Amino acid sequence: MFHETRKGAGLPYSALNAVVVPRPIGWISTLSAEGVANLAPYSFFNAVAYRPPQVMFSATSNHRLGGLKDAVADARATGEFVVNVATWELREQMNASAVPAPREVDEFEYAGLTKADCRLVRCPRVAESPVSLECRYARSLEMLTDDPEDPNTVVFGEVVGIHVEERVLSEGRIDFLELRPIGRLGYLDFVRVDNVFTMERPEWVAEPPS
Ligand SMILES: Cc1cc2nc3c(=O)[nH]c(=O)nc-3n(C[C@H](O)[C@H](O)[C@H](O)COP(=O)(O)O)c2cc1C
Repeated sequence: MFHETRKGAGLPYSALNAVVVPRPIGWISTLSAEGVANLAPYSFFNAVAYRPPQVMFSATSNHRLGGLKDAVADARATGEFVVNVATWELREQMNASAVPAPREVDEFEYAGLTKADCRLVRCPRVAESPVSLECRYARSLEMLTDDPEDPNTVVFGEVVGIHVEERVLSEGRIDFLELRPIGRLGYLDFVRVDNVFTMERPEWVAEPPS
């Protein structure tokens, strides 16, 4: 089948987030300008550069449900955010933190999570998460939108510090089966890392092997 996206849905549910899979989940913590901690998962999330290390997350918004999401507003207001890794063990808390709570609600408390101090930024990280990236806000971009009242906003940040728990390290490398990160599929489906395979990078040779 084929459908032109501007001419209707084509399938009963959006295909986009079911075909761009699996997506890593950036579990974003921030502190509001008023000092309230905020936590929510974003699967429109990725690493975008090495030097300096940079990440992005992208937020939809709904003016009928409070408009700009807290993670975007807070990152812009304070210049900081933290990306916590969502793991299989923390799946329920991660999901609970997606609740569309009013701005004054602390989702760490709502989801039953502990705040740990960061070293270089003031917003808290998730103590239970084995990996957290401390980020300084770099810039944000407004993407195309069908409704100017509901912007799609991408936030970029520089990763200035990385916390890694010893238990997910093996000889200086992340042990993926110990970390067990979860990722987003479409609909209400998720995936967890429980097997890994390795491939060597190809090297360019003038004469391709016959
Ligand atoms: C696994 C998962 C991934 C999500 N990814 C996104 C996303 O990429 N962008 C977005 O705008 N909302 C996403 N959401 C919804 C937000 O987490 C939700 O709107 C949340 O209330 C936003 O919180 P905040 O306003 O405190 O930042 C996701 C929800 C879940 C459960």
